[in-house]
Amino acid sequence: MKIAIGNDHAATELKLIIKEYVESLGHEVVNFGTDDNESCDYPLYGKKVGDAVARGEVDCGILICGTGVGISIAANKIKGVRAAVCSDVATAHLVKEHNNANIIAFGARIVGVELAKDIVKTYLEAEFEGGRHQRRIDMIE
Ligand code: RB5
Repeated sequence: MKIAIGNDHAATELKLIIKEYVESLGHEVVNFGTDDNESCDYPLYGKKVGDAVARGEVDCGILICGTGVGISIAANKIKGVRAAVCSDVATAHLVKEHNNANIIAFGARIVGVELAKDIVKTYLEAEFEGGRHQRRIDMIE
């Protein structure tokens, strides 16, 4: 898959680790995030990744800020984006299976490196179940 990744200054280290990890799983990663630790504004990066997902330039996105919340709120302003914050593996597969989330978000100040890897791998391997879940997504759209 082709996957967009974005982050603010709170998540640069974790972003670099997750980017390398996702590439090791055989995916192509497009990096829209900051690569340094200078304070910056997470809405910019939520929008960059959200736009890439909404335009179909990538298959899905990964967003990381301090909590995962601000950057996901920003991405969710873009029509067609369903960005879901996940801090555990159960939520990571359910947001794909039930919500067909096209962006997964998490917090570098909330989850550790190994949990973040598990969350990403679980999300990427999960399948949308369709059916009644599609009806509910249609209602949101
Ligand atoms: C930055 O300090 C922090 O507010 C940001 O990374 C994020 O947690 C916002 O939701």
